Amino acid sequence: MPLDAPVSVSLKPLSFITAFHEVRPLNPAYVTRLRQKVRAIGVKPYPLSVTPAGVLFGGRHRYEAFSAEGVTECLMHISEPASLDREAIELNRASEDALPMSFVDYAEMVWRKLADGTTQQAIADELGWSKQKANDYANLKRIVQAAWEVVSATFRTLADVASADAADTKSAAADFTEGLLRCIVALTPAQQLELVQDLAAGRINKNKFRSQADAYRARNAAIAWVRAQLGDIDPEIADEATVEVARGLYDVEWKAGGEDGGAGPKLKRLIEAAQDKFAKKHSLILIHGDFYQEVDKVGDASVDAIITDPPYHISSNRIYRLANQADWNKNFGEWDSEPEAAFLANIQTWAATFFRIMKPGATGFMFVGEAYLNIAQALFDAAGFDIKGTFFWCRANPGTSVTKADFMPAMDHAIQFVKPGGKRTFNYPGEPESYNWMKSPICGGRERLANAKGETLHPTQKPEAVIRHLMDLITLPGDLVFDGFMGVGSTGKVARDTGRKFIGIEKDPGYFAAAKSRVEG
Ligand SMILES: C[S@@+](CC[C@H](N)C(=O)[O-])C[C@H]1O[C@@H](n2cnc3c(N)ncnc32)[C@H](O)[C@@H]1O
Repeated sequence: MPLDAPVSVSLKPLSFITAFHEVRPLNPAYVTRLRQKVRAIGVKPYPLSVTPAGVLFGGRHRYEAFSAEGVTECLMHISEPASLDREAIELNRASEDALPMSFVDYAEMVWRKLADGTTQQAIADELGWSKQKANDYANLKRIVQAAWEVVSATFRTLADVASADAADTKSAAADFTEGLLRCIVALTPAQQLELVQDLAAGRINKNKFRSQADAYRARNAAIAWVRAQLGDIDPEIADEATVEVARGLYDVEWKAGGEDGGAGPKLKRLIEAAQDKFAKKHSLILIHGDFYQEVDKVGDASVDAIITDPPYHISSNRIYRLANQADWNKNFGEWDSEPEAAFLANIQTWAATFFRIMKPGATGFMFVGEAYLNIAQALFDAAGFDIKGTFFWCRANPGTSVTKADFMPAMDHAIQFVKPGGKRTFNYPGEPESYNWMKSPICGGRERLANAKGETLHPTQKPEAVIRHLMDLITLPGDLVFDGFMGVGSTGKVARDTGRKFIGIEKDPGYFAAAKSRVEG
């Protein structure tokens, strides 16, 4: 600003300034250079910008240099801007002798404001930015601290001093920009650090920085895909495959797979090899725990079939007292007594989860009570399955009609669902086995497990004959069958006896122990 500036510019004692409005950190190297200039050419005729209350918001480096050189008064432009931040930034931009305000300062200012509760929109409005630009700067916070320190140190110590001396000095600081760093925000901390260190040290240029960031992004997506395919049941096998991908051997193939990348033949072979290894190592996996947590360990598109028998939501507190027989208690326990809304939400979760873990073409049978049969079919249909209909198990000996006032429920039902997109197994058995019903007694005799007191161990243990029929229809020897609610392990036992592999989950410790000795024993 020239000396013949408006009347608001006046000579004032330096002591008029009592506070500072900071928008960027002080750069001691630059203050040193300004002091040299003050000594060489005197106080420069550019006024400091100060509010009437004595808050300095433009010219902090000059102020420091003047104080250090014993200058007691200088020109000050007194004004009260609407936004101190914005005005200070404008001044920094406009002032010939101010340091160029780097994106590092802007980014840190944006983060400070966000931490103070300012919204991105408010920041954008204040700085005259687009919302997208404010968002881009906010996102830089995803860069790990150690890498950010390399970037900011490069700016604040090297580039600033260099640019004060000679504007055309080339340094890594000139290469770092918000746009360049945007391409590493989604990388791992180690990848971010490696790239910024390499650029700062001149080991790579910014083109290489970009292409390497691209390669890392492809690699990370491929690793995430590999982990999703293999699941967490055997972290050792999943880790082995991940390490292989982390070596960078699949980057190019993944990038060739379209806009978001994708698995090519090499990567698919890696998964098949890992799955083979998995199959050799584990044929029966029994997990004690909650389906909703443990099923996350099962890989995407990894199971050949599902035969499962989750809670029916039919428990009641009624106890029927029978002549010459044990009481008939319709309360199966806490696992079958959820509120209806939660039960319906569970059916949706089962549908989505089964869809995730089933291979394309895989078939599932899920037993479900009569009241929820059509609802379950609709929800499974909505999840993407082809609904093939209902299998009816007609209990040959349903028990005694207790009340004699209603039908005796003698039918049990399983919905049949197929994940589209692959080759389906249906081993047509001829007639009458291909009918959608089967008459078979309820589980009894030596097959029915009992506790130490000789009482029925599980209230709804399914007969092996029924499970065996379904297993024969929809699986082949060697297939992997899943049951997320295995009770005392009827599906697992049949899988083992017929040479299928099996993953089962059960949360009740007593039922789980019984399943374990039955399936593995
Ligand atoms: C209908 S029974 C299955 C009986 C089984 N078909 C058999 O033959 O033994 C349902 C089973 O699911 C189990 N269960 C209920 N909620 C569960 C959950 N969130 N995770 C794992 N198991 C659960 C119950 O403990 C019960 O044993």
